[in-house]
Amino acid sequence: MTERTFSIIKPDATKRNLTGKINAVIEESGLRIVAQRRIRMTQEEAEDFYDVHRERPFYGELVEFMISEPVVVQVLQGDNAVARYREVMGATNPAQAADGTIRKLFALSVGENSVHGSDSVDNAKIEIAQFFDEADIVG
Ligand code: CMP
Repeated sequence: MTERTFSIIKPDATKRNLTGKINAVIEESGLRIVAQRRIRMTQEEAEDFYDVHRERPFYGELVEFMISEPVVVQVLQGDNAVARYREVMGATNPAQAADGTIRKLFALSVGENSVHGSDSVDNAKIEIAQFFDEADIVG
């Protein structure tokens, strides 16, 4: 079933000029990039985005990292896009990520892990709505 998921190309990746290489892996997987914008996240946006992790010990570090350099926010569309993109990204910790995944190819550590992808269809809708108007998504 056709779905949408939300993706972020994170600061460690934009800083190393990896946007195009990551987009190539996404497109080769069959997912379509139906909206994309390069932004500098504000502290408030990053805090809201990662609100579920507010009590975690790495929360402050995570927010600081996400505002340290530009990011690319994206909407990806395709068959089972949420689960499919999680496969394409690989495990959160790049040391555990499968060969050929974005995190195995490019991530530096569990924090500097190059990409974010929604973990459910419901969260995808919430995350997409934080950064995109429906009119800016061209499927
Ligand atoms: P993401 O999919 O963006 O969702 C939450 C993020 O928290 C996760 O990717 C990691 O980048 C980050 N994260 C998870 N565990 C740790 C950790 N132990 N230290 C720092 N960052 C972490």
